Amino acid sequence: MRLLIAVREEATIQNPCEQIGAAILLGVATYAMKMNIVLLIVLAGLNFIAIDARAASLVDGDAKSGEAKSAPCSACHGAEGNSMSPIWPNLAGQAAPYIVAQLKAFKSDPNNPDAKALRSDPLMTPQAMMLSDQDINDLAVYYESLPVGAQAVADPDLISRGEALWRAGNSEEGVAACAACHGPTGRGNPAASYPLLAGQHSAYIAKQLNDYAAGKRRSDGKTRIMRDISERLNQEDITALASYVQGLK
Ligand code: HEC
Ligand code: HEC
Repeated sequence: MRLLIAVREEATIQNPCEQIGAAILLGVATYAMKMNIVLLIVLAGLNFIAIDARAASLVDGDAKSGEAKSAPCSACHGAEGNSMSPIWPNLAGQAAPYIVAQLKAFKSDPNNPDAKALRSDPLMTPQAMMLSDQDINDLAVYYESLPVGAQAVADPDLISRGEALWRAGNSEEGVAACAACHGPTGRGNPAASYPLLAGQHSAYIAKQLNDYAAGKRRSDGKTRIMRDISERLNQEDITALASYVQGLK
């Protein structure tokens, strides 16, 4: 009881408390800096290298213009490229060449999107139609530059089935291991336009696998990579894989 009162009284005298806290923090920081000055310099160097690597995109676009153009997109894909609805995909950190390919796929047949477009969606198709090639490049580079958002957790009951398929595929059904292209942790391969999947909403992933299987999504083009794989998966496989992908970090 006394302790509680003491804490409460201290909390009301805010300024002196903050000052003491700041002084202690400064002391600790100064000490740490003296001890680790060399390490800090090394770390700072590494940081610059990391920033440089992220700044280079395979697509020739301008992230700043992309940010300005992204205002209408954020209504569905979120302010930082992480959407609130599980059927609207996250775009943060997605590889720019893949984003370009998808926006062009949505634009592929303006006159008859439902019948012929490589990819079609009542919400997304009209959005893509309004974009020029320059807009597409700028938006792609902008979304690629954003940090991948907080990850959701995979359903523990589905992990083992999802993980087995992800890592080894299913040789009986002729399903290739997803990890072979999308990487063990689902980071994808920007140069090959294999998308980042880690942390993507499971409901969105399941919808895409079903769309490929039904031939509704044909953005994999002549290779038919994802259509061939998806039509060999059953609904249990799709549910388990979608949940597993959502939990990948
Ligand atoms: C009204 C909601 C809405 C708005 C606004 C919107 N999108 Fe989308 N977007 C979607 C939906 C829904 C999908 C998934 C469609 C599907 O299921 O295939 C999607 C898919 C995408 C994809 C494919 C992602 C992937 O992983 O394959 C990209 C890229 C994209 N949108 C970019 C944009 C950009 C850039 C803008 C702004 C110019 C934008 N979107 C505006 C709803 C929207
Ligand atoms: C041989 C390489 C390869 C393999 C193996 C592969 N993928 Fe893909 N995946 C791709 C490519 C390429 C795309 C982009 C296709 C397109 O543009 O529509 C893609 C796209 C996807 C997408 C759509 C992502 C989005 O943001 O809309 C999903 C979901 C997906 N793959 C899941 C899987 C799963 C699950 C497996 C394993 C069962 C798998 N992939 C195996 C190459 C591969």
